[in-house]
Amino acid sequence: MHSFSSAIRRVNIRVLFSVVFLGSLCYYAGWLSRWPAPDNSGLEWKDFEAKRVTITVQAPQATVTVIPEAEEAVVLIGSPTDAFQDNLRHDVRYITTWPGNGFTNEAMSLMNLIYLAMLTERVPILPAFNPSHFSGGSPDTEVVDTTFGEVFDVPRLAKELRMPILEWWQVKDRKSTTVDSLGCWNVWQAVMEHSSGPQYSATPGKLKIDISWTIAPKWVKLKPDAANDAQAKFTGLMALAFPEQRNRNLRTPSKSPLLGLSLPPNEQLLCFDNLYYTANVEGLEFEHDYSTAWRLVGKHLHWNPRIEDIARGYLRRTFGLGVDATIPPYITIHVRHGDFKGACHIPLDECFAPLSAIARRVDEVKEELQRLKDITAAHVILTSDETNITWWDEVAAYGWYRIDHSATAPTYGAWYPVLIDTAIQSEGKGFVGTDRSTVSLITARRVKEWHDGVVRSVKWGEGGGRRSLRKK
Ligand SMILES: *[C@@H]1O[C@H](CO)[C@@H](O)[C@H](O)[C@H]1NC(C)=O
Repeated sequence: MHSFSSAIRRVNIRVLFSVVFLGSLCYYAGWLSRWPAPDNSGLEWKDFEAKRVTITVQAPQATVTVIPEAEEAVVLIGSPTDAFQDNLRHDVRYITTWPGNGFTNEAMSLMNLIYLAMLTERVPILPAFNPSHFSGGSPDTEVVDTTFGEVFDVPRLAKELRMPILEWWQVKDRKSTTVDSLGCWNVWQAVMEHSSGPQYSATPGKLKIDISWTIAPKWVKLKPDAANDAQAKFTGLMALAFPEQRNRNLRTPSKSPLLGLSLPPNEQLLCFDNLYYTANVEGLEFEHDYSTAWRLVGKHLHWNPRIEDIARGYLRRTFGLGVDATIPPYITIHVRHGDFKGACHIPLDECFAPLSAIARRVDEVKEELQRLKDITAAHVILTSDETNITWWDEVAAYGWYRIDHSATAPTYGAWYPVLIDTAIQSEGKGFVGTDRSTVSLITARRVKEWHDGVVRSVKWGEGGGRRSLRKK
C-alpha cells in the first residue's frame, strides 16, 4: 500500500485506526487518487468528495480508516510565488476574471466565474474585492482590498461544490514585485461595439499582471441585435476555453501596457475581462428562478463565520440583549439612496419611496410570516446609505432599529459596516429591499433560500416614488 500518487504533495490526513493485534506496527502510506490524471484536461469532480477509505493491511494486520481533508486537494505547486506561472501545475487548468464595479456586483461576477469554472472544468482563481464603492468616502481613509475568503466561507463553498477554489493571494505573493504577462479575452469590446477597450478593473495592476487582450468573437454576445445590451452568454465563453473555438478565433492581440507584449489568450489560465454581464437567457439573470449562477454557486456562498459572529454581536447590542441571548426573528429593510440619486430626474423626495410605503411592505412581510410560518417578527432593522439626519429621525419614529456603526470602521476596517449590514440582512426572516439594487436582489435570494423567508421590494423613481402615490 505504498503507492503514492506523485501528484499529491501535501494532504492533511486525519487517521483513525484500531489496532487488531497488540504490538503490531501500524502505519499507512497514503491514499490513492486519480486526481489529477496527468493527461486530463479536465478535473475529476468526484475526487473532491470527502472519502472514507478503509485499508486492511495484511502484515502487520491493522484496520486503518483514513479521512482525507478532501477540499485540500492540492491544485498549486506550493506557497505563493513571485511569478504566478511558477505556482501553476502543468496538469491543472485555471480560470480567472478581473471584476471592478462595487462589492455586490463583484461578488456576482465571481459567482459567474465559478459557474463558468464548472462549465469548463477549470479551477477558479478569485481576486480580492476592490474598494471601488469607497471612492466617495472619507479621503483620509485609504481602503485596501479585502480578500474573497475574508468575506465568504471558501472552505465550505469548495466542499459544497465539490471543487477546488483558489484565491489570487494563494497563487502570487502579495509582496511580489514581478510583473507577469498574460493573454486574456476582451469580452466587453466584442459585446459593446462602440467601446474602445476591455472593462476596467484595478485588479490586474494590483497583482502586477500585464495583460495583452484579444477581442472575443462577436458570437459571444447574448443578443446580437441589441447593440446596447451588454450581456455575453455563458456557453459562448465556455467554448473559448477549448482549443477548437479558441484557435479558430485568434486575432492580433493588443500590446500589453507595461511590457509591450502581444500574447494570445492563455490556455492554462483562461481569463476574461469582467463576467458581471454574463447570462444564459436575459440580463440580470440573478433575478430569475432559473439563474444558474445563483442555484449552482451563489446559494452556497455563505459568510465567513467570523463575520456572522460579529454580525450577531451587533444584532444583540442593537436589540439591547445580553451577549449570549437568543436573537429573536427579525425583518431588515435595505434602503439605497446614495448613488441612486443620479438616476432620479425628478425631485428626490418624490423620486425615492416614502417611509410610509416601506412600512406597508414591512407590515405585509410581518403578516405573511405570522400566517404562513407562525413567526412573530416584532424587530425591524433599517439599513441605508442615507446620510440625512432628518430622514433618520423619521425612521426612528417608526420604531425601527438602526445599527450603530460609529465604531465599526475603526475596530474592524472600512469594509465592515457594509459586510456586517449585509450579513445581518441575510440572517433575517423577512426582508424589504430597494428595487433595482443588486444588494437587495442578492439579499432577497439569501433570505428566501436560507430561511424560507418572506421578501418584498419597494419601487422608486418616476414610476414608483412619492410622485406615483400622489397620482393615485
Ligand atoms: C432630509 O430628509 C427630510 C425628511 O425626509 C426631507 O424633507 C429633506 O428634504 C431632506 N434633505 C435633503 C437635503 O435631502
